[in-house]
Amino acid sequence: GEAKKATSIPIIGSINCISNEDWIHFTRKMEEAGADALELNIFLNPADFSNKEFEKAYFRIIEKVLATVKIPVAIKVGKYFTRMGLSLKALSETGISAMVLFNRFYTPDIDIEKMALTAANLFSTREEQHETLRWIAIMSERVNCGLAASTGIHNGEDVIKMLLAGARAIQVASTLYKNGPVQINKILTKINAWMTDKGFDSLEQFRGKVSGGYGDDPSAFERMQFMKHFSEIR
Ligand SMILES: Cc1cc2nc3c(=O)[nH]c(=O)nc-3n(C[C@H](O)[C@H](O)[C@H](O)COP(=O)(O)O)c2cc1C
Repeated sequence: GEAKKATSIPIIGSINCISNEDWIHFTRKMEEAGADALELNIFLNPADFSNKEFEKAYFRIIEKVLATVKIPVAIKVGKYFTRMGLSLKALSETGISAMVLFNRFYTPDIDIEKMALTAANLFSTREEQHETLRWIAIMSERVNCGLAASTGIHNGEDVIKMLLAGARAIQVASTLYKNGPVQINKILTKINAWMTDKGFDSLEQFRGKVSGGYGDDPSAFERMQFMKHFSEIR
């Protein structure tokens, strides 16, 4: 509610809950507080051995929330799904407006002196963007909702890549923590300069321009790239 009063841009409320009742309660509260849209951070962890329904839980939560609120609903998902492509496609057909690919889980490391589990970086690195890029490119023409790219996107070049892959929105977190809000200006300046250089005056002129590279069978394309890659090693 405070953010809505203080700004003139759309505010998307992001929530993470456990029980059905909580999802309904908090999504309703967000809508009442004036949120323009919701992001459900359905943070199901594949290491949860007690959660036998896993993928089914996503559909159950979406159904409950869509029956509760009228504002657009997006879901933020992790990278772990059985049959990733088919699962994401099925989720996109539930009536949600958008999907955020991907959430970033705790990343473990091991301290060999103390011989103890530790946490790797709290912040992402740019290397992590490739997994996001892969799935935005594969899914953008196959889903029934918008796709937002998240994880490993740190600068304007990264944002342009995600748009070329077909993303309708981009999320950035680590780079803002590291560089401050001024990073947003730098990103926008880079996008504008690149668009001018390429002769584009709207995002639609180049959004998804490169995703078609995956063709009708993304798995065959990747297999071929894999073989090409390794046949070049001497
Ligand atoms: C300090 C910090 C706090 C975060 N808090 C949340 C949160 O409350 N809810 C959420 O969905 N994601 C949260 N995230 C995850 C980010 O939204 C994002 O998914 C992740 O950092 C990957 O994006 P990035 O590569 O741009 O950092 C947080 C990330 C950081 C670094």
